[in-house]
Amino acid sequence: MNSELVKTKASTLPPTLQWVGGIDGFLRLIDQTKLPVEEVYFDCNSVEQTHDAIYRLVVRGAPAIGIAAAYGVSVAIGTAMKEQADARKAALAAIDYLATSRPTAVNLFWALDQMRVVVNEATDQELADRVLQKAKAIHEQDRQTCAAIGQHGAPLLNGCRNVLTHCNAGALAASEKGTALAVIYAAHELQPELHVYADETRPLLQGARLTAWELARSGVDVTVLCDNMAASLMQAGKVDAVVVGADRIAANGDAANKIGTYPLAIVARHHGVPFYVAAPVSTFDRTLADGAGIPIEQRDAREVSHPYGTQTAADGANIYNPAFDVTPAELITAIITDQGIIQPVNAANVAKTIGLS
Ligand code: MRU
Repeated sequence: MNSELVKTKASTLPPTLQWVGGIDGFLRLIDQTKLPVEEVYFDCNSVEQTHDAIYRLVVRGAPAIGIAAAYGVSVAIGTAMKEQADARKAALAAIDYLATSRPTAVNLFWALDQMRVVVNEATDQELADRVLQKAKAIHEQDRQTCAAIGQHGAPLLNGCRNVLTHCNAGALAASEKGTALAVIYAAHELQPELHVYADETRPLLQGARLTAWELARSGVDVTVLCDNMAASLMQAGKVDAVVVGADRIAANGDAANKIGTYPLAIVARHHGVPFYVAAPVSTFDRTLADGAGIPIEQRDAREVSHPYGTQTAADGANIYNPAFDVTPAELITAIITDQGIIQPVNAANVAKTIGLS
């Protein structure tokens, strides 16, 4: 596989996250709440702005929020240095605070746990530098992870003409390329005729706004459909495979991802369509035996009742708005990780691939 070509395509996209400056610098994010209409950046000059950016989905997607939180610790140290406050205390407080920004994607906690180790180990003199270097290392590691997922997953799409994805598990959800879309980008290099169906992904439209934007920008043919159209598409024989990302995967392979993923897996099974989950090892939660214990974020009712400022639900109605659902391992054909493919998906194979045993 020609990985140079894959790199060229992904790099036509603006960076999802950038650190600007030195140890007193700031985190710059492409503002995903504004895409695809406006390409504008949101600068995080304080830990509060970083928390707000994660909570409001300025930056979103499991790997990206882990990277953003890691840089958020550097932002907090920069602020403490300017205010001549205790930088270590500020960094530890920032870690605790950023951990409250979103509950489901375990990559957030994975990154913050690593930052805590560095904060506790570094001397006063080296603290700011070591924390920034660690955040940059987490960012760089994710680039390699995304590339490895693409390389491992592309062969699974051999001969596929139409692939369906849900939400955005692409370059916008990670350092670059993403997880599910890394597989699609790598497969597209081998099969340029590959076409992607992007579920709109209610209520916040990550599929229609973000996946369609980045695939179109990368030269991948993409069609947007409303979430409730996927079953009829599969019934018509128009989907060869489904590839999605994940926010947290339990030790048995049960996988939490954007709400609407679970029904897609049921429909795929009914129609004999392979259903793949692509995720880095950092998305596995070794402490959970199965998906029942995965915390599911409940978001503001107005995201459903007043999406993008327009009222679409009747006054007086109650609103149900979980951000994620859990797909049982038995419905997942394979999990594509940076360490290889888990198939069939069960606790023993998860442990073997990601080194739990
Ligand atoms: O609420 P979001 O937009 O952060 O949800 C993102 C997803 O569900 C993605 O599919 C998941 O994080 C994988 S990203 C590589």
